[in-house]
Amino acid sequence: MVSVVRPLSPTASLGSSPVSKKQKRDQRRDPGPETRVREVSDEEAAPVLSRVREIMGLPVETEKKYAYELEYNSKLVLAPMVRTGTLPTRLLSLYYGAGLVWSPEIVDRAIIGAKRVVDLIFQLGTSNPRLAAAAAKVVAQDVSGFDLNCGCPKPFSTHAGMGAALLSTPDLLLDILRRLIADLPLPVSCKIRILQTRPETQLLAAQILRTGIRNLSVHARTRDMRPREAAIWERVKAVVDLGKERGVNVILNGDGEGYENWKAMCEATGASSAMLGRSAERNPSVFAEEMVDAAAVIVPLLLYIGEWSDNAWGNTKFLLTQFKPSAAPVGKLNKQQRKEFNAVIARAKSFDEVAEGVKSAGIEIDMLNAKERGAQFCRDLEARLSQRPEWKRFKENEAARDAAIAALQPQWDAEIAEIEKEREEKKAREMEEKAAAAEAAKAKKEAPKPDAEEQAALNGTTSAEVVKP
Ligand SMILES: Cc1cc2nc3c(=O)[nH]c(=O)nc-3n(C[C@H](O)[C@H](O)[C@H](O)COP(=O)(O)O)c2cc1C
Repeated sequence: MVSVVRPLSPTASLGSSPVSKKQKRDQRRDPGPETRVREVSDEEAAPVLSRVREIMGLPVETEKKYAYELEYNSKLVLAPMVRTGTLPTRLLSLYYGAGLVWSPEIVDRAIIGAKRVVDLIFQLGTSNPRLAAAAAKVVAQDVSGFDLNCGCPKPFSTHAGMGAALLSTPDLLLDILRRLIADLPLPVSCKIRILQTRPETQLLAAQILRTGIRNLSVHARTRDMRPREAAIWERVKAVVDLGKERGVNVILNGDGEGYENWKAMCEATGASSAMLGRSAERNPSVFAEEMVDAAAVIVPLLLYIGEWSDNAWGNTKFLLTQFKPSAAPVGKLNKQQRKEFNAVIARAKSFDEVAEGVKSAGIEIDMLNAKERGAQFCRDLEARLSQRPEWKRFKENEAARDAAIAALQPQWDAEIAEIEKEREEKKAREMEEKAAAAEAAKAKKEAPKPDAEEQAALNGTTSAEVVKP
């Protein structure tokens, strides 16, 4: 068996040159190239690929029709991003042409209210089929589809078996998808990372594609690859082929730069849609054929949307710090002004301080009637969306979709109430146990200490032996 390890880390050092503090830190964080991608021999691949063929020969597990089907193909879409993917980013991305927008991952136990925006895909972080379905039911009336996060490598996700941890528990991953598909009248999709070898990735993809999902997004990095390492697009090609065979769309994710390299992404893999993460975080107009300057155009819009939607200042500030003023010819600020602009944002403590501060970089933001300007932005957005072909379909099918949800609602309410009751009971039990433990500890502390005689009797020795040094 031959296995060729392909080192991808630009920091991987082969010689024994002096190692800097940063390199040492990176090495500690970095589990090494063997944990990333591996080429396998035909001999090793054969049994796995034969299993792939077997699965592809089986019928789809759950055939379903939805009142409103999402179109995932031929689009640039906004990736799910915790902190970044809040309402302002989603609205700005849609405004500049994003075909679909994903919500940030929201853990099943922490569902919050959501406002319906056309084609919002709600991403779930979960490791429990029952809780996943219950969480989806809480927001079903406000979203267009559900996505299962199987890619987040951060410990807050993986320690509970969620995110990228699901890549190592495929049976659980498939059970969650099956449950969501069975219970919800909305399309279900899934986002994974590539696995270490091509056949392993194909096998997982073949199993997922068979469940009845409508889309599979593939981040072309393995769980252990860092964002600075180049995404390996060509590893997604075989998954796209399987998707085509099954009639399920596959979206490529990783290092997308919008129109700039969309074509190259499609050519490398055969996918028609690309999902953009960090490039959209730097400038949500990346979805447009012609980008606009984040400093001069996006920042004022963000302040208006922030005022209109009461977006928390902490999150608005975070988004502002992610936006990067474009260099000429898109932006008009010189290098020094761009630096000054970033410093102003970093110092600002309110919407008004941003508007005041950026004047020094020659940017005028009129904060008078900011809320109304935010509302106007939403009206403009709606006018833009209404030009899209999906809009008409969405409007035509909205009533049927709502009716399907309404019919299921009483049963869902009962299920959610049951889960909440179990949660309350568990909490009460835990509190009782804690109180009993504290009571026992207190009683032990307060109990009179046995004197030497009693201690000796307890130990079966004489008091003389007890006091003996
Ligand atoms: C700030 C941030 C938050 C992210 N949060 C999520 C998340 O909630 N769910 C998820 O599946 N991926 C998440 N990701 C990963 C992105 O969706 C995407 O897969 C990754 O950034 C690679 O795409 P890119 O090269 O275009 O940035 C996040 C990435 C970033 C930068």
